[in-house]
Amino acid sequence: MIRQRVHGFFKSLRVRFFLILALVGLSACTIIRYAILANYEKRAVEVREEEMKEHLDTLGRLLLEEDFFQNASSQKAKAQLSLMSDIYEGRILVVNPELQFLWDSEGELDGTVAVDDSIRRSMEGEEQVQETLYDETTSTVTIVYPVTENGLIRGALWAQGSTRPVVSMMRILTTKANRIQLIVILAILFFAMIASEILLRPFDRITRAINDIGAGYSDEPISVPDYLETEQITGAFNRLQSRVKALDDSRQEFVSNVSHELKTPLTSIKVLSDTLLSQPDAPTEMYRDFLKDISEEIDREDRIINDLLTLVKADKQAAPLNITQVNINELTEIVMKRLRPIARQRNVDLTMESTREIHAEVDEVKFSMVVMNLVENAIKYNREGGWVRVELDADPRYFTVKVSDSGIGMPEEELAHIYDRFYRVDKSRSREIGGTGLGLSVVRQAVTAHKGEIEASSTEGVGTIFTVRLPVIHS
Ligand SMILES: Nc1ncnc2c1ncn2[C@@H]1O[C@H](COP(=O)(O)OP(=O)(O)O)[C@@H](O)[C@H]1O
Ligand SMILES: [Mg+2]
Repeated sequence: MIRQRVHGFFKSLRVRFFLILALVGLSACTIIRYAILANYEKRAVEVREEEMKEHLDTLGRLLLEEDFFQNASSQKAKAQLSLMSDIYEGRILVVNPELQFLWDSEGELDGTVAVDDSIRRSMEGEEQVQETLYDETTSTVTIVYPVTENGLIRGALWAQGSTRPVVSMMRILTTKANRIQLIVILAILFFAMIASEILLRPFDRITRAINDIGAGYSDEPISVPDYLETEQITGAFNRLQSRVKALDDSRQEFVSNVSHELKTPLTSIKVLSDTLLSQPDAPTEMYRDFLKDISEEIDREDRIINDLLTLVKADKQAAPLNITQVNINELTEIVMKRLRPIARQRNVDLTMESTREIHAEVDEVKFSMVVMNLVENAIKYNREGGWVRVELDADPRYFTVKVSDSGIGMPEEELAHIYDRFYRVDKSRSREIGGTGLGLSVVRQAVTAHKGEIEASSTEGVGTIFTVRLPVIHS
């Protein structure tokens, strides 16, 4: 529970954004602080060193003048040495080339021999600086300074000065820096909070707009043009929304078409039976006639319902294709055989041509239905004494079924609509021959399910050609 809430908290873009801004701001602030302080410290110590060296230089010259390295008795030199050790709050040692201490500001080492390595090395002309900066009591700068005359080393000065002022200045600066840093941190956090709040507000607006649409308060396209990203999101959403709308419209149209189509036979049945009922002594002849009509209307209703069921079943993706390896030639023959009686009845010549045996992976039932519907249309929308030709052909990847007829054809501009549900070019003729206007919708649906294509071309009064192209291997 708590973990979930914590997880949700960090999942928020706003929180992450805030954290990133805060982190960047805080690290920048900390880095700058340490850089400035360290830099100050280094500079201050350097200045102290320079000062000491200059002083040691002057002192060295005085010691040479007073011949202090030969005879360490000059009062003037001793006064200067004491003065300097006082100024730097430290200690000064004078060593001659034999490494004997000639003077110690603390008076301890006079006359003893130096064992310190840095002092020995200074006799080779090496100048050395050593810093120890710990705290106010122990922080020092130690300098070993060789004193030369005409290129000869005459002795060395060892001086230790306190850097206490630097350390105490550092302490003051650190306190100040802490205070400033605290203010800056608060400012950064505040700024990060405001920034993340403002920058992410457009996303809230998107959510609100989408919720409004979901709740039905609005169906306007949403527009949050603040950022490229919000534009992309809202653009995608609007496209989805208009697709949903289009789908909704087409469903509504379908429902109203269905109701209309189902009502037509019922109306006829109602009229027929009412007429009979209103004539108590109608002749048997009339009863038979009317009942025959009623029976036909019921058949029609039945066909419409059957076609609708086929469509709806196929619409559901849950009903997958039942793919098997099928001999297309044989299957087409079987379908055509079933249609021969009506062709004969209408005096239409029905033939099939094939260049080779075709085996393909299709749903047998659906494929039969495709051929059935196309050939049935070709027979029914034909003329007395006309012909229907079915041609099969294949290349390695696709096979085609071409159904041509010498029928009534249809105007070019109708071709775009013939796959629509309930669409009929000539309503009365379709009705006469028992059409529902659903046949070609079912055909196209089956073809699409097979990842194939269907194409029609027609000339009014001359004939129509339907070509179906399906893949040989189903994938
Ligand atoms: N071979 C064809 N020749 C002329 N018109 C056709 C042909 N096939 C289909 N049509 C036209 O397309 C319409 C839709 O066909 P279809 O969906 O099978 O419905 P139905 O056959 O039930 O009317 C038909 O009503 C008809 O007007
Ligand atoms: Mg049909």
